[in-house]
Amino acid sequence: MTYFDLMAKEWDSVPRRIERARAVAKAIKTSIHLSPSMKAFEYGCGTGLLSFELQPYLGHITLADSSLGMLAVLEEKIKSRGIQNMAPLRLDLSIDPLPQERYHLLYTLMTLHHIPDTDRVLRGFYTLLASQGYLCIADLDKEDGSFHGAGFDGHNGFDRDELGDRLTRLGFRNTRFTTCYQMTKEVETGVKTFPLFLMIAEKDIGQSSISNQQSATKNRKSKHAETN
Ligand SMILES: C[S@@+](CC[C@H](N)C(=O)[O-])C[C@H]1O[C@@H](n2cnc3c(N)ncnc32)[C@H](O)[C@@H]1O
Repeated sequence: MTYFDLMAKEWDSVPRRIERARAVAKAIKTSIHLSPSMKAFEYGCGTGLLSFELQPYLGHITLADSSLGMLAVLEEKIKSRGIQNMAPLRLDLSIDPLPQERYHLLYTLMTLHHIPDTDRVLRGFYTLLASQGYLCIADLDKEDGSFHGAGFDGHNGFDRDELGDRLTRLGFRNTRFTTCYQMTKEVETGVKTFPLFLMIAEKDIGQSSISNQQSATKNRKSKHAETN
């Protein structure tokens, strides 16, 4: 049993987790026009707090997590609320093969910092998006390690510029950051506030890019003809 399996049943009893999910949902809705034609994917969904906030505005949501305990609680919540457009999926993108389905919107909240090999997971996010799609990452800004305390083997938050550069190198465009929530938490030295960023990036390899590629090929061909 993992830490998250053990935490699953009590996860929703901490009010700041619910408040945090609502704040992130609000920030996503403010920045992206959501519609019932959109297929979405949440990675590291836990008990689905964020997706339950977004579900009325989306066509379908696949909710992925590596913790069977979290997924069991999620499944129960979906059933008891009679929701038809949410489907849980056990998945760890750092080791499992990518699902075949592609999505218009992919979001993740407070999960990336738990994953040692973020490169593989970020590459997976890019592939999982349709030719035009949005990636939303909400996570901790770089911090001194006090959020989790000693012995934590994940990331102590993320530097915004560094994360933005990595996504640009992967092919994402128009990467932008906002502060979407301030999380207050009791740590070893007392009560501390940790800012959370929401990063939105776009994948766009649609018509415009393809026609750009085609004209670039044409240009190369005519240049080649000139030099021959
Ligand atoms: C801090 S919790 C956040 C849960 C939820 N997003 C929320 O805000 O309430 C992190 C979640 O990421 C999941 N997780 C951790 N590592 C993962 C991995 N490699 N692949 C998929 N999920 C993972 C955990 O099981 C847990 O549900």
